[in-house]
Amino acid sequence: MTNTSVSEMMREFESRDGQMVIGGKSAVEIADEFGTPVYVTDEKRLRENYRNIHDAFSRHMDAKVHYACKANTNLAILRILEQEGSGIDAVSIGEVRTCLKAGFSPDRIMYTGVNVSDAELKEVSDLGVMINLDSVSEMERLAAIAPGYPVSFRITPGVGSGHGAKVITGTKGAKFGIPLDEVIGTYARAKDLGFDIKGIHAHIGSGGQSVEPFMDMMEVLVDLVNQISELGINLDFIDMGGGIGVPYRPQEEEMDVGELAVNLTDMVTEETDIKTLILEPGRYIVCDTTVLLTRVNDVKDAGTKRYVGCDAGFNTLIRPAMYDSYHYVAIANKFGKACTGKYDVVGPICESGDYLAHDRVLPDPEEGDIVAVYNAGAYGFSMSSNYNSRPLCREVLVNDGKAELIREAESVEEQWRHQIIPERLRR
Ligand code: LLP
Repeated sequence: MTNTSVSEMMREFESRDGQMVIGGKSAVEIADEFGTPVYVTDEKRLRENYRNIHDAFSRHMDAKVHYACKANTNLAILRILEQEGSGIDAVSIGEVRTCLKAGFSPDRIMYTGVNVSDAELKEVSDLGVMINLDSVSEMERLAAIAPGYPVSFRITPGVGSGHGAKVITGTKGAKFGIPLDEVIGTYARAKDLGFDIKGIHAHIGSGGQSVEPFMDMMEVLVDLVNQISELGINLDFIDMGGGIGVPYRPQEEEMDVGELAVNLTDMVTEETDIKTLILEPGRYIVCDTTVLLTRVNDVKDAGTKRYVGCDAGFNTLIRPAMYDSYHYVAIANKFGKACTGKYDVVGPICESGDYLAHDRVLPDPEEGDIVAVYNAGAYGFSMSSNYNSRPLCREVLVNDGKAELIREAESVEEQWRHQIIPERLRR
């Protein structure tokens, strides 16, 4: 490891009297006080993660971190990142407006949509938020809506990376970006249309654990920057997207972010005149800040399998069901106790695919125990749903031993609020 290394293993938590502690507070006390299921976010860790990634890159060149808020859009979490000086990567008008509400000024937000409507282009451009265009169609439509607007282009680098097939975005033929062989022609057309062309962007995918694909992507980008300058277009920035993976398993090592930063910034400064590098980490910033606490309702021995039945399922955390993602689980009130058997940790949704963890050794799970699901800060709450008419759950922020509610639990009544029973069906 080099001295620029900031790499780590999966996050571990302190134990106090056999109880798991997060942000200086007992997880069981939080579950008792606020109810379950509940996402619990550690403010100190959030600030540390932001500073780690920002410092890793900005010690080498002007680097701007645009937090990919799709990972977690809680307003309190956004407020903390706004205080830290972060920018934003937003994918929809909803995310843009949420970040404005959290106090980000429009010039700190970059909008990267896909298959965007004219109405959304109009709304985003009226707000003065920079637009990263995903297609020739989007460019032509924006030219009519907001002539001369500041833009960059997302290109398809022909390089992919990610924790699974569903989250790899950069390979040839992908849904995202300008195909490589059309990039130069598109920049030339954008110049003719009179756009204020600021940069170039690529995102290879999400949750990859190796440095090499980022290097391969950057090679493509620097080559394009130099070809684009031959058109008389001098770009201000390269945006390398997000996708930095984090460790989800014990003993799994984090990607060496220090090494990533040195290698990428060296390539940019040595091979181009680009002054600013933008990066869009989502998972890296929020993932290990948060645990999901869920209470055990039911324990069942089904002969070939034993089940720990909790009050959170794929309505609350969909990643295991959707991507077969691994999330480490522990019993917060039996923290560090010897494990007695192997269990599947499952939820209250009426589908066999509803699970949080398969085949985990746990210390004698019982009704009333609190299961902590690790690494739940990224794409946890933000992908949760009302399936089975289960209300969206609470979120809590912890700092220095104090816990504050940052989202109330939804009520069942709230799920009815947009539904209309036609007059003729009323009773
Ligand atoms: N920039 C762009 C253009 C993106 O599309 C994404 C993620 C990011 C940045 C942030 O990627 P990150 O640093 O968080 O890996 N729901 C999936 C992840 C989908 C990510 C989509 N785009 C999951 O739960 O793993």
